[in-house]
Amino acid sequence: MAIERTLTIIKPDGVAANQAATILGQIEKAGLQIIGLKRLRLSTPLAEAFYSVHRARGFFGDLVKFMTEGPVVIAALQGEGAISRLRELMGATDPAKAAAGTIRKQFAANIERNVIHGSDGPETAKNEIAFFFAESELL
Ligand code: RTP
Ligand code: MG
Repeated sequence: MAIERTLTIIKPDGVAANQAATILGQIEKAGLQIIGLKRLRLSTPLAEAFYSVHRARGFFGDLVKFMTEGPVVIAALQGEGAISRLRELMGATDPAKAAAGTIRKQFAANIERNVIHGSDGPETAKNEIAFFFAESELL
């Protein structure tokens, strides 16, 4: 498998619960390298733009409200098959359906407050990394 880059966000629930470093630690232990890192609070327009693919969904308003309620920690990751590897580590969107040992199973409360975002494919990974990082910030 090829070396890939992907984007993860520790969502406001995970950051508020002081789980950001623990979650990033599990990602590092799984062999993915952090090549860019920032902590910020998303504005409403930024959260709406980031999740714009979901703008027609019934949960969009709640999702934007949740993603802007407090700071997030955003990391660009690199490694062998990084996109699918991260999604495996995260587990299913609904933590009740997530496999044992996955990040969402361990730390998430419910389908919305699910502690972590991960890019879902090569094109989204590229766009999402560029959404938050300049190429010069990726080392
Ligand atoms: P993400 O984009 O955050 O990595 O999550 P995902 O791919 O596993 O799930 P996706 O379908 O892209 O949904 C994005 C986020 O919206 C919230 N959500 N709420 N109330 C609901 O039914 C519902 N469904 C999704 C979650 O925060 C989900 O991660
Ligand atoms: Mg998604």
